[in-house]
Amino acid sequence: MNRARILLGVTGGIAAYKAAALTSTLVQRGATVDVIMTEEAERFVGPLTFSSLTARPVYSSLWDAPERIPHIRLVREAHVVAVVPATANTIAKMANGIADDLLTTALLAARVPIVLAPAMNDAMYDHPATRANLATLRQRGCEIVDPERGFLAERETGMGRLAAEERIIDALERALARRRSLEGKRVAITAGPTREAFDPVRFVSNGSTGATGIELAREAALRGADVTLLLGPTLLEPPPGVCVVRVTTACELNDAALQHAVGADLVIATAAVADWRPEQRSESKVKKTDAGVTVRMVRNPDVLAELAKKKGTSFLVGFAAETDDHEANAREKLRRKHLDAIAVNDVRGERGFGTGRNALTLLWGENDRRELGTAEKSALAARLLDAIEALMRER
Ligand code: CTP
Repeated sequence: MNRARILLGVTGGIAAYKAAALTSTLVQRGATVDVIMTEEAERFVGPLTFSSLTARPVYSSLWDAPERIPHIRLVREAHVVAVVPATANTIAKMANGIADDLLTTALLAARVPIVLAPAMNDAMYDHPATRANLATLRQRGCEIVDPERGFLAERETGMGRLAAEERIIDALERALARRRSLEGKRVAITAGPTREAFDPVRFVSNGSTGATGIELAREAALRGADVTLLLGPTLLEPPPGVCVVRVTTACELNDAALQHAVGADLVIATAAVADWRPEQRSESKVKKTDAGVTVRMVRNPDVLAELAKKKGTSFLVGFAAETDDHEANAREKLRRKHLDAIAVNDVRGERGFGTGRNALTLLWGENDRRELGTAEKSALAARLLDAIEALMRER
């Protein structure tokens, strides 16, 4: 916690008094804590409590602060943002991008890890709307410190009591460690499909959306890396804070990779590169006739194999999209392409291309393997980077 800068949002629940104890512990452990209170929180605890504990001003309104845009400065200076306690209302606003007070505006502008510790009545916590909102936030990478079962403000026992202070501090420590783990490292990621046109309106491609690579880029940037995302055609938005190079064809991706990925500390190839392209591309639209058409296809460059030839000290991670014999096929690719590790991507059924969820196993060495489980692609990105970073440290 020493020298950590924490932005603490306090929202209006009875557990707001526990945020004061948490603030005291964080300050004693060497953190600098800035506090934003919602109007409702101020009904439970006075701002003077927090300003006395932190020896810093407490913020609550977008309009009364001594400066014009405090929300941007506060999130830029923070290493992590915590919302303790997080009410159902604030969680719902966050999940829907609503920014109608200083805290929710700051949260919308935050590009640092966010830790949420919900606390509320058990029926509110159980409500499908709250469940869905928490799932959305988790998928976006927020760390949720689940509440505990215990005595609630309604004088009954239920699920919804604020998590114990040590659990919240553990989550903050994890978020702080993540934030810096790739600082100073260059990371290049290939993502999305490629398109190989045979006339101005028709092309050969595949169903990749680029989601896995986009989530990895987002996570690597959160961890402080200098990230370049080489991205094929997709409607998905690339993450903020990442250098994006747009490509369409495999040949363009190959050129971009040789320009931007060679010499990177870590290269992750998630792109579903078309293995062939039409030999000829007609300049005008091919008119249909009753007869069939034959398009002769020629091999595209293998971008990852090209990068492997110029690997140097880069740590090279490939992906293998498999439907059968996952591990054997992936191990063969690991060896053939001289990779440091390969993530096996199960693309059967509901998983893989175009879906939010996926199942991944990381393979390296002769027989080493780590199951990363089945989860949202954002959660898997964090698990995969944890595993890759551990291997990079061992090397
Ligand atoms: N790859 C690449 N350039 C290609 C083809 C693949 O960079 N032209 C990369 C992918 O991004 C992925 C890995 O290589 O990291 C996949 O290896 P590959 O042997 O092509 O596997 P599949 O695409 O699954 O193809 P297949 O099973 O048909 O061999």
